[in-house]
Amino acid sequence: MKVRRLGFGAMRVCGPQIWGWPKDRANALAVLRRAYELGHNFFDTSDAYGPEVNELQIAEALHPYPKDLVIATKGGLLRPSAPRWDRCGRPDHLRRALEASLKRLRVERIDLYQLHAPDPEVPLADTVGALADLQKAGKIRHIGVSNVSVAQLEKARRVASIVSVQNEYNLGNRKFDDVLEVCRKSRIAFLPWYPLGAGAALRPGKVKQVAAKHDATPAQVALAWLLERSPVVLPIPGTASLAHLEENAAAATLRLSSEDLAMLD
Ligand SMILES: NC(=O)c1ccc[n+]([C@@H]2O[C@H](COP(=O)([O-])OP(=O)(O)OC[C@H]3O[C@@H](n4cnc5c(N)ncnc54)[C@H](OP(=O)(O)O)[C@@H]3O)[C@@H](O)[C@H]2O)c1
Repeated sequence: MKVRRLGFGAMRVCGPQIWGWPKDRANALAVLRRAYELGHNFFDTSDAYGPEVNELQIAEALHPYPKDLVIATKGGLLRPSAPRWDRCGRPDHLRRALEASLKRLRVERIDLYQLHAPDPEVPLADTVGALADLQKAGKIRHIGVSNVSVAQLEKARRVASIVSVQNEYNLGNRKFDDVLEVCRKSRIAFLPWYPLGAGAALRPGKVKQVAAKHDATPAQVALAWLLERSPVVLPIPGTASLAHLEENAAAATLRLSSEDLAMLD
């Protein structure tokens, strides 16, 4: 599957704390539709966002889907209440979760199904093995993992073909440089979540300085930096604001010089 390198993270169009529906439901649908119009054809979501709400929003906004739109969802987390994101990697749970996502997204196969996070209570090989079985059954096209270490990624790769990793990564947090390096070497897509550090990556003075030089915004610099970081990086910035959406999409055309990159290093 070919997708543009700047994707869209849909999580932020849910209600506060990524729980329930947003106050302004029409705005959420408008943001999702505009994201596609602006050229984003890779959307990231999860059954845990809302929970369930985010997948329903995507279907409401964009179904029947344009041919080039790739929707990546995730399973493996439970949301018994707003503050809780409990890991659940049991095969029976993932089988049920996948069926429910298929229904909400109104598709027969998920383009990219990601394990949201490894569950320490369940052997990773069993969890990923369940996804491999669902792939064989034709319900998943590609398998990805999220929130993994290098060792966990290698373990998952011994059980199934893994096409993507989604870990926290941005200008201010490069803890997973080692995972990114494995992805680069193995040609696995690396989807940095919190690409803007939920706003935190936008404050440091150097980012502002580079932004001023290009007549750009700090968010655009943070995204352009990620795109330069490695050819396997596919950032998925999120927003519930149409203005921020336009601003972030424009980052795809911002080119940073080697001087800029050295300054941000
Ligand atoms: N795998 C995981 O465990 C995991 C965890 C978290 C997120 N994710 C995925 O990653 C995606 C991105 O993560 P994220 O949304 O948490 O982080 P993010 O994209 O780094 O930050 C989004 C936050 O930054 C603000 N923002 C967006 N554009 C901005 C701009 N141009 N200027 C100033 N502020 C801006 C947004 O507020 P406004 O709405 O006001 O613009 C929102 O609060 C999510 O949508 C989700 O799909 C995955």
